[in-house]
Amino acid sequence: MYARIIGTGRYLPEKVLTNKDLEQLVDTSDQWITERTGIRQRHVAAEGQTTCDLAEQAARQAMEDAGLKPGDIDLLLVGTTTPDLVFPSTACLLQHRMGMAECGAFDINAACSGFIYALSVADQYIRNGTARNVLVVGAETLTRMLDWNDRSTCVLFGDGAGAAVLTADENPGILSTHIHANGGYSDLLKVDVGVSRGFRAEARGGVSVSMKGNEVFKVAVNTLGRIVDETLAANNLEKEDLDWLIPHQANLRIIKATARKLKMSMDQVVVTVDRHGNTSAASVPMALDEALRSGAIKRGDKLLLEAFGGGFTWGAALVAY
Ligand code: ACO
Repeated sequence: MYARIIGTGRYLPEKVLTNKDLEQLVDTSDQWITERTGIRQRHVAAEGQTTCDLAEQAARQAMEDAGLKPGDIDLLLVGTTTPDLVFPSTACLLQHRMGMAECGAFDINAACSGFIYALSVADQYIRNGTARNVLVVGAETLTRMLDWNDRSTCVLFGDGAGAAVLTADENPGILSTHIHANGGYSDLLKVDVGVSRGFRAEARGGVSVSMKGNEVFKVAVNTLGRIVDETLAANNLEKEDLDWLIPHQANLRIIKATARKLKMSMDQVVVTVDRHGNTSAASVPMALDEALRSGAIKRGDKLLLEAFGGGFTWGAALVAY
């Protein structure tokens, strides 16, 4: 039995912040941001708009695309590192909004790898017969955690949500998933505040993304190279067998390095980072949805989804569409 993707959806908040807009906020330039990251604009959630609000829009679209009713879902997973509340989980809030029956629902916090992690959990539940239909969402409001005075991080991130509905099928499907983590790198990329550490008497309760970008960059390129090899080897495939790369969208230079490693032309790579910025766990499902709805991906194509993020966490999924 395989887990097959039968519906996808995405949602981006209306408000767009361009690099030119950021020039008014911090000492930066459109040229610096574009050359170093490939980002030209990002979407920002409106005042009061939460991760669950974005998730709901993407989830409704994916459910409609799949042609399923809320009661058909056996398990709901939300990859997020920016939940509405500490608890209940965003998955529980979303389950209620969607009018789903009492299916299991939980969040997965693996930073930017959250959707790939959630996909790997969904794949296991479907393969072992415990669940038939699983809704997997990646949703974030990363901009809520940004220090808009810190030019090294505030130019990088955006908000959004993507979703996919998976169903049990005898035809492939997800061929394999691979997840890894190394907490030894936690100091290179973190939000250094939390419930048991206590909050600080600063703006946003001391919440802000801190990143040693240069060092993260090097580990990301190296690690993504290794996960790509691991995934191909697990499926006895060669680089040439892949039709599409759907990478996490943090930085165009990291994406190009992974494509080079796979000897893939950029025509085979789904790129949204220019318009979305880094939307963390939402980036892979949004890129997948965009590529599917554009008609670029055809039935039978082999897709490699991959992500790398805070933790560090990283993962990949090989999908026969
Ligand atoms: N505008 C202008 N100058 C800037 C800006 C800015 N927005 N930000 C930093 N600079 C300056 C720095 O101060 C530094 O100046 P200095 O040389 O005078 O000290 C210079 O630009 C170079 O800074 P670097 O950090 O070395 O720049 P780099 O080329 O590494 O690019 C970037 C930075 C874009 C962050 C890159 O390192 C990167 O993309 N890293 C990986 C990000 C990533 O993949 N994160 C993982 C996922 S995120 C998650 O999990 C939540």
